[in-house]
Amino acid sequence: MYNLSRLFLFIFMLIFQACARDQNPIYPQQDQYMKDPHSYGNPDEIVIRHLDWKASVSFQDQVISAIARLKLENLTGSRSLVLDTRDLVIEKVTSGPEEIPADFKLGQADSLFGAPLTISVPENCDLVSVYYKTKPKAAALQWLSPGQTSGKQHPFLFTQSQAILARTWIPLQDGPQVRFTYTAEVSVPKGMLALMSASNPQAVNETGVYTFRMDQPIPSYLMALAAGNLEFRPVSSRCGIYAEPDLIERATSEFEDTEKMIQAAETLYGPYRWDRYDVLVLPPSFPFGGMENPRLTFATPTIIAGDKSLVALIAHELAHSWSGNLVTNAVWDDFWLNEGFTVYFEGRIMEQVYGRDFSEMEQRLGFEDLKGTLAELGDSSRDTHLKLHLAGRDPDEGVSDIAYEKGANFLRVCENAAGREKWDRFVRAYFDRFAFTSMTTEKFLEYFETEFIQGDSDLAARIGVNNWVYGPGLPANALTYTSSRLKSVDQEITRFRTGINPKELKTAGWATPEWLFFLRGLPPELDQDKMEKLDAEFHFSQSGNSEILAEWLGHSIDFGYQPAFPVLEQFLLTVGRRKYLRPLYQKMIETPGSKERAWSIYTRARPGYHSVSVRTIDEMIGWK
Ligand code: BES
Ligand code: ZN
Repeated sequence: MYNLSRLFLFIFMLIFQACARDQNPIYPQQDQYMKDPHSYGNPDEIVIRHLDWKASVSFQDQVISAIARLKLENLTGSRSLVLDTRDLVIEKVTSGPEEIPADFKLGQADSLFGAPLTISVPENCDLVSVYYKTKPKAAALQWLSPGQTSGKQHPFLFTQSQAILARTWIPLQDGPQVRFTYTAEVSVPKGMLALMSASNPQAVNETGVYTFRMDQPIPSYLMALAAGNLEFRPVSSRCGIYAEPDLIERATSEFEDTEKMIQAAETLYGPYRWDRYDVLVLPPSFPFGGMENPRLTFATPTIIAGDKSLVALIAHELAHSWSGNLVTNAVWDDFWLNEGFTVYFEGRIMEQVYGRDFSEMEQRLGFEDLKGTLAELGDSSRDTHLKLHLAGRDPDEGVSDIAYEKGANFLRVCENAAGREKWDRFVRAYFDRFAFTSMTTEKFLEYFETEFIQGDSDLAARIGVNNWVYGPGLPANALTYTSSRLKSVDQEITRFRTGINPKELKTAGWATPEWLFFLRGLPPELDQDKMEKLDAEFHFSQSGNSEILAEWLGHSIDFGYQPAFPVLEQFLLTVGRRKYLRPLYQKMIETPGSKERAWSIYTRARPGYHSVSVRTIDEMIGWK
């Protein structure tokens, strides 16, 4: 009896400690902040701990009017707080609960980094309130007309804060080392639902005023807001889908495996620590596939294929609930710690839920992407190091297959070198140990040395970690991937190349990865007749699968396959996902005779793209 109660007490203590750790993150000491080249903030002196945001959204003016009340911790007795802003109109700043007017100065503005907002903070004061408005051109915000939504009746607003765009809608210390909790009260036009990266409403209310809480400390790049005509459907007791009414049924059945994915993730690397996991399906102009906003992944509607074939993206964003949102890259040079771990973890979730042969195919496709990126960047480019050098540059330039696929390849090398059991124990301990903190590459390597290598010089030699992290290109011990399912696709590609009619190809049972591999393996030259035959047999131009369609449209540009051009134009006029836009416009401007088409389409499509995509394509095609 005595022993039993001791056991209960022990278990209780364990649970209590785990919860206490959740609620009491270990914040960095003043000397533990790295210099962040992409932020003006001074968190090493005085740092934001909580944001209380009160905002009103006007679709008419395309403006958010807000008060950001910032709860501070003063580490050094500093008398000035420095925040990041970009294109914000600062109306008034006050200090303390009595709201005494505070002096502030908006510094010189840089078009990328914005302007530092320096606020005088009285002695012993731990609260400042910034009254401000956003500008219609705020880069994080996309204001959609009803015509850009699925229902065509209501406007829509969404944000994209990563990497350094949070400062265009909230004045914050906008670097990933600063973590804060938040509460918010947001007012939107009646009939609309507002959602944030926080606890969320599940139905429209009569007032149009919604309140939010995020009790776990998060970095600014995970601040998110969306508002529109949205409905909710549950997938499980802790998981559900938000989408426009006419998409909600399709979206919910597409993502019905999400709860299974959460459970798979939990068995691998420990409990899901963010309470709910919901997915918001955005209109097609969303510039990314997905964004891991905590508790509420933002996702492109282009992954709704009807057969769950593109749900790896959900596994990816879910995996960020550990890699990225729990343990966060300290500065953008450490981006691979977010994305490399996430691609690795995504593969493990996919393997558990859909089987090894499926995840192997996805890894092979990712590896092919990586080889393409390495060829583009050149083998000796510094941009091919895992640890990046982004000072003075847009951190967006670090978003490439290097962080994602080279990062994941490195982690798979580690797994293989030590065996899954040891590796998984290490990764899980890493997430536990560093939950709710930020991580530099160097700190990771130190932990890796002591907790994973553990003096095993053989293991260290098999991995060659420094070469991976600080060296260019692909190290010799990189994994190449074999997939028996893709081998048989290879055989069909060969048969097609030798002139066999598409009708004769053995494609029964092919899933999306097989089709993608097939399309990527087509010969470098195809005449009209061959393209027509392929299209007639497999209906690529009508594919409802965005990955397959985008691949096919790329070939259609390459080979001047006219029948697909109206589809290409329609695709580019509706979809704003940068991953698709970049190669399609690139091919058009490189293909003789297609350059004018690129300009004509882009001129019409550009007003409907998010600033993130506009920035990339503008630069690529030389828009002025
Ligand atoms: N966090 C990224 C998106 C991102 C990265 C936005 C850097 C801004 C700056 C997200 O998790 C992501 O990687 N999305 C991918 C998904 C894919 C790899 C499954 C995308 O959007 O394509
Ligand atoms: Zn990611």
